[in-house]
Amino acid sequence: MAILKIARMGHPVLLQCCAPVEDPGAPEIRRLVADMMETMEDAPGVGLAAPQVHVPLRLFVFRVPGERAAGEPDDVPVGNSVLINPTLELLGDERVLGWEGCLSIPGLRAAIPRASRIRYRGVDCDGNPVEREVAGFHARVVQHEYDHLDGILYTMRVTDFGLFGFNEELNRAAEARAPAEAPR
Ligand code: NI
Repeated sequence: MAILKIARMGHPVLLQCCAPVEDPGAPEIRRLVADMMETMEDAPGVGLAAPQVHVPLRLFVFRVPGERAAGEPDDVPVGNSVLINPTLELLGDERVLGWEGCLSIPGLRAAIPRASRIRYRGVDCDGNPVEREVAGFHARVVQHEYDHLDGILYTMRVTDFGLFGFNEELNRAAEARAPAEAPR
């Protein structure tokens, strides 16, 4: 396995609409997925899409750490997962603001409106179908990663640029406001 180089905002690979994976079980795809999981853990991050490692294909890896999951039935911790050739369905009209960062935009985060519930489908490396209805942080991560496959970065979805900034500054400001409630 290997730690892969992550493309940063400004690199054209992040703006491409990615191509479907023709053979999800191919050895090079399995290797890519294993390397992406290792890269995500090393960063560390909670999601990584193939174009972020300079491969413009429709797949991403993600995880839902215990401290991020709300603990509700559709938002429980999930270990390293892969989704290949995904489709995404936003359920309902409700949009909720939540903080997002991106390994391609280091040091920054912004509050982004996302659907609170989604259904997604895809396959894993064995060609097994994956279908899930999820909410909360799980739904947010999948929407963020799915956007990468269409060349969309979270910065393109910012609705309030007052809620966009450097992690260090935002953390300092949050601590000054409410020491016990500082965001992670
Ligand atoms: Ni990202």
